[in-house]
Amino acid sequence: MKRLGLFFGWLIAMSFVFPPFLWAAEMGKWTYDDFKKPAQCGMCHKEIYQEWQQSLMAQSFIHPWDDVEYFKLALPHALKLEKVADVKGGCIACHGPLAFLTGDIPPKPPAAATRVNEGVSCEICHSITGSTEKEPFNFSFEINPGRVKYGSRHDSEVKFHDTQYSDFIRSSKLCATCHDEQSPYGAWVKETYREWRASPYGEKGVRCQDCHMYHAPGKSARASKHRDDIAHHVFHGPHFKNKLSGCVDIALYVKEPEVTCGSEVTIRAALFNGKVGHYVPSGSSEERMLWLEVKGTDQKGRTFHLPVEKKGFSGEEYTVADSKAIAYQAMGEIMEVKEYKGVSRDGNLPDGARIFRRPFFDPKGRMTICQWYTAKNTDIDYRFGPLETKLETYTWSVPKDFSAETVTITATLYYSLVPSSVGEFMALPAYAYEPRVVNTASMVLDVK
Ligand code: HEC
Ligand code: HEC
Ligand code: HEC
Ligand code: HEC
Ligand code: HEC
Repeated sequence: MKRLGLFFGWLIAMSFVFPPFLWAAEMGKWTYDDFKKPAQCGMCHKEIYQEWQQSLMAQSFIHPWDDVEYFKLALPHALKLEKVADVKGGCIACHGPLAFLTGDIPPKPPAAATRVNEGVSCEICHSITGSTEKEPFNFSFEINPGRVKYGSRHDSEVKFHDTQYSDFIRSSKLCATCHDEQSPYGAWVKETYREWRASPYGEKGVRCQDCHMYHAPGKSARASKHRDDIAHHVFHGPHFKNKLSGCVDIALYVKEPEVTCGSEVTIRAALFNGKVGHYVPSGSSEERMLWLEVKGTDQKGRTFHLPVEKKGFSGEEYTVADSKAIAYQAMGEIMEVKEYKGVSRDGNLPDGARIFRRPFFDPKGRMTICQWYTAKNTDIDYRFGPLETKLETYTWSVPKDFSAETVTITATLYYSLVPSSVGEFMALPAYAYEPRVVNTASMVLDVK
């Protein structure tokens, strides 16, 4: 008994000695030739190949913001700050697993067109056999590339390769190996799986695959049998406007639709997350922007913005747009930009807009988009949980001399992948920070 106690004591001690990255998939154990190219799989799995190619997981290494964030921020930072040195390979383990598994670290940039560009390929997911962690995170997948493709069927018949049924492939834990992440400072900087697990969807067993891989009748390969529920590899997320669209509902209320000049009107907005099986935003929440703009427009097209009424919770200032607030100092520091003081925290949002976000803070206490350099992110979390409703209130003081007869109040919920200030500073393509409409609601008030 005493020996067992000593053993567990040792285990706990070792887990402090070794940072989490060392529990993960083994770097450099394989060669590129151990993994077939996706186009080869596409010869038979035509539709699945098309779907995957359009998905972000096929672009996880090459798409502009990933390229820029790794080569301009994370890699230089890893080379000068010992504490974050492991992200040199860590980012790549999830974003370009082939390079990590073959030890090609740091990999050549996308322009060199090496095989790391394949991103999260067919062979990655379908060679994963399990995880070293009971609740996976930080690329803790175990992988066994070869003739056997691990899948979701007990009865597939193929000559080109072997197949084996895998509970792990069918489970949300497969996704958790890359979708949950702990920073070198121990902060949970991605926890889509953990958010999901604690939600009604997790409890009922509605998996990631059920919402992100549509199931429909058809064939998965040329000349294979017809099945009722083929798993389509869509993997849509916020890069696809259709997936974002309507993911949060909006309803607007006033006591009376008739208002008088000089009076005050209280407008109530109710917002409900009825579509997303985890928080929204989730994943890269350090940089995702989700905000509500409420404005009035009269018949002459004149508009005015209404600021959200504060609720008084601690840290609320981070959830209300303020054009004077500055943040993201670490970006300029890493890039050694002279005289850099940071950029606008909220980008070009109108003052007073409510922002549904979870701010991340670096070890110096400054808000950051560098998730690997995050020490703290638990104090403020004003995002939408699964099936959660939030109520926001707005007051419009109708001017005494208001001349129009009607005013349309519109509430629009927008999403952008990164704050516009960060997008402009890092010279990202405009789509990376353009506002995308999630939902909108409006009502007409008669002014007397
Ligand atoms: C020569 C055609 C062909 C090629 C090339 C091919 N497959 Fe298949 N694959 C099939 C057929 C046929 C099935 C069986 C489908 C069924 O039974 O519904 C299949 C089934 C699968 C399954 C499902 C297994 C299960 O039991 O759930 C996976 C996963 C898979 N293939 C992955 C791959 C990958 C990865 C590649 C590329 C390395 C690839 N395949 C290349 C023909 C092919
Ligand atoms: C009930 C359906 C549902 C389930 C279950 C679900 N998702 Fe989602 N997910 C969505 C919708 C809708 C969006 C788009 C809204 C958004 O971007 O937050 C989304 C967005 C995402 C995003 C992008 C988040 C962002 O804002 O950047 C990721 C990553 C993701 N899901 C992964 C997962 C993983 C991993 C699981 C399982 C642990 C999962 N999802 C389970 C519906 C679901
Ligand atoms: C991010 C991980 C991931 C990637 C990348 C991926 N798959 Fe899959 N694939 C899955 C999962 C998970 C399932 C099982 C879905 C389920 O349980 O509903 C699956 C199922 C399949 C099936 C069986 C479909 C069925 O319903 O019978 C085939 C065939 C397949 N994948 C081939 C491919 C090919 C070919 C590629 C590359 C073009 C690919 N996969 C890329 C995760 C992935
Ligand atoms: C080997 C690592 C890995 C695994 C396993 C993995 N993902 Fe991903 N996934 C990524 C990376 C990396 C990205 C980010 C791509 C980007 O934006 O560059 C991503 C992005 C996504 C997105 C966001 C798409 C968007 O439009 O923004 C969704 C949704 C998603 N994955 C779903 C899943 C689901 C569901 C599973 C499990 C069936 C899964 N992933 C398994 C690495 C992985
Ligand atoms: C444990 C796996 C993992 C690690 C480690 C990881 N990422 Fe990611 N990364 C992801 C996943 C999954 C997503 C998608 C989340 C989402 O869609 O919200 C993502 C999203 C991103 C995005 C946002 C892409 C977009 O289009 O908005 C960037 C940029 C990025 N990662 C860069 C990095 C860098 C740089 C590092 C290293 C410091 C890193 N990642 C480490 C898994 C990982």
